[in-house]
Amino acid sequence: MPIYQATTSAPVNIACIKYWGKRDTKLILPTNSSLSVTLDQDHLRATTTSRADPSFEKDTLWLNGKEEVIADGGRLATCIREMKYLRSQLEQQKPDAPKLSTFPVHICSFNNFPTAAGLASSAAGFAALVASLAALYELPATPSELSRIARQGSGSACRSLFGGFVAWEMGSAPDGSDSLAIEIAPREHWPDIHALICVVSDDKKGTSSTSGMQRTVETSPLLQHRIGTVVPARMKAISDAIRARDFDTFASLTMQDSNQFHAVCLDTDPPIFYMNDVSRAIIAVITEYNRIALETTGKRKAAYTYDAGPNAVIYTPKENVREIVELIVRYFPQAEKFKDPFSLFGVAGVGEGKLPEGFNERVAKKFDVGAVKGLIHTRVGDGPRKLGDDEALLAASGLPK
Ligand code: DP6
Repeated sequence: MPIYQATTSAPVNIACIKYWGKRDTKLILPTNSSLSVTLDQDHLRATTTSRADPSFEKDTLWLNGKEEVIADGGRLATCIREMKYLRSQLEQQKPDAPKLSTFPVHICSFNNFPTAAGLASSAAGFAALVASLAALYELPATPSELSRIARQGSGSACRSLFGGFVAWEMGSAPDGSDSLAIEIAPREHWPDIHALICVVSDDKKGTSSTSGMQRTVETSPLLQHRIGTVVPARMKAISDAIRARDFDTFASLTMQDSNQFHAVCLDTDPPIFYMNDVSRAIIAVITEYNRIALETTGKRKAAYTYDAGPNAVIYTPKENVREIVELIVRYFPQAEKFKDPFSLFGVAGVGEGKLPEGFNERVAKKFDVGAVKGLIHTRVGDGPRKLGDDEALLAASGLPK
């Protein structure tokens, strides 16, 4: 009996135009379109191995070494069922194909970054799950078709089926058939976009995206203005800015949209706060950095954005990363040496650096070590990758290695 198995990895994505609100909570259909940058899997990724075998007792999934419950009718079960359905259609067309759709699957998934870092791990996770089942089942499906299924695992996951710059079109069909991801531009179009993730300390348990966004839908009048007027115009403007590689416009829209997302959270009853004092101080530093840039060149050099937590993601063209790391480290001293994947600093590491000419140092106070507990430097990346069997997470027995 041959072994039917596939391993893939999938990337994290961070939205510039935020998804916040569902019009259908079961199918995960959003109240507005959204747009994100896919980050490089060389640094952040979810890896998943799927295997189909008639001798397996039931569908089973392990996440970071721990078995997860696949609840009936839940998001995981839905994704697995939809993928098996696509396989069964293929088997009908090709009577010789083995009946993998009737076999239970073992799925083993691993994130190479700590879930506790508060990074969007579910997006990469569901994208890797769907991509690995698509490879296992040898489906001819396009990334957009797969995104429709990943969307039902976690909305933002649908955007991780593509690399580069990705839109999730909200669609209008009640069955969700036109609510899917499309590529606005591949990473090769604008490889110069780098990202610095500032992992901000946070001991309180925040409101989950899933429950927070529904509370916003139910109670925020501001959300109606956002979804009806603001986002449609921004989606078009930022797509044009990406096509034109216009960083200044891209940055301006990204920051405005992050701010408005947090404004609708504040407009929710009771209000939701995701950013903390450290998050706001990072905004102040980047705003001052851009003020100098605007004064001297008329263009912004960096864009901050925040999801449902206090971490900052700063997008910037590669040439500015060194300057921004020096600034962040000055205000938020680091316990550990900066991991320098692009070798910007050499053996000496990050020094104090000179403040940019005219920079008002008093825009933020200097925080204690640990306020920003880590910095991750990455860049725009590619879509899901098929990996070889040497990288499989399941052993010959069909259990996690
Ligand atoms: C703030 O995709 O995690 O990161 O669909 O309920 O799983 P569910 O929510 P999720 O929400 C992400 C919200 C966000 C913005 C974004 O990624 O667009």
